[in-house]
Amino acid sequence: MIYVLFLVFIITTQSIPSTSASEVYDVTGNKVPNNVPYYIGPVIWAKGGGIKLTDTKNNNKVCPPYVMQDPAEVNIGGHFRFTLSAYNQKYLLTSYGLGIDSGSPNKSTCDNSTFWQIPNAEAKAPSNLIRTGGLFETAVSCFQVVDYPKPTSPKVHSYMLQHCPYFCGAGPMTCFNVSIYEEKGVRYLASSGITPFEFVFQKPK
Ligand SMILES: *[C@@H]1O[C@H](CO)[C@@H](O)[C@H](O)[C@H]1NC(C)=O
Ligand SMILES: *[C@@H]1O[C@H](CO)[C@@H](O)[C@H](O)[C@H]1NC(C)=O
Ligand SMILES: *[C@@H]1O[C@H](CO)[C@@H](O)[C@H](O)[C@H]1NC(C)=O
Repeated sequence: MIYVLFLVFIITTQSIPSTSASEVYDVTGNKVPNNVPYYIGPVIWAKGGGIKLTDTKNNNKVCPPYVMQDPAEVNIGGHFRFTLSAYNQKYLLTSYGLGIDSGSPNKSTCDNSTFWQIPNAEAKAPSNLIRTGGLFETAVSCFQVVDYPKPTSPKVHSYMLQHCPYFCGAGPMTCFNVSIYEEKGVRYLASSGITPFEFVFQKPK
């Protein structure tokens, strides 16, 4: 029992990765502030544009909305606030627990909480698709930004997202890569898939 507890302790302490945290940069090389609206989109705008919300899926209204890549390369998408669990940080950090806020809640009964969530990261679609409706610092809404391991371009800072429920509470001691999940030609963000979605931060004009 003591051995098991000790092991859990080691895993826990090693997994809270604040030592490797470093500041996040946007596509122009400026630091991304903590909790300020930014656009995110692919490094090469070929298969689509920026990330945004959609309130329709398979021609049905859905609520809360899903998070998807705009199909048009020219569209920058919606802006999102990346908010670290550590409130006092001026700049966004990699390898640190955070929530991703879609903005002010709409006056409807189902999307009054606006943080991205993955209801069940280990389940199949649509349960592993990212949608809003989560609350800050809860396991389902817990993510981290990680440097993209093999960036497309050495000239820009590109990142991937991981969903890490245990950073904010309960859940398996693992992080799930956030990838593109394509369904009927629509590119959703989800925890399915192995290849993480590589993206850059872009400051709103
Ligand atoms: C609120 O509604 C507007 C207009 O329909 C939409 O653009 C926006 O994405 C919605 N916000 C959320 C958090 O769902
Ligand atoms: C959202 O609003 C509905 C209706 O007012 C309420 O029942 C629900 O608890 C609210 N959810 C959150 C997460 O605040
Ligand atoms: C997550 O992405 C990284 C980087 O591409 C990869 O090395 C790793 O195997 C992926 N993890 C899973 C569980 O797919």
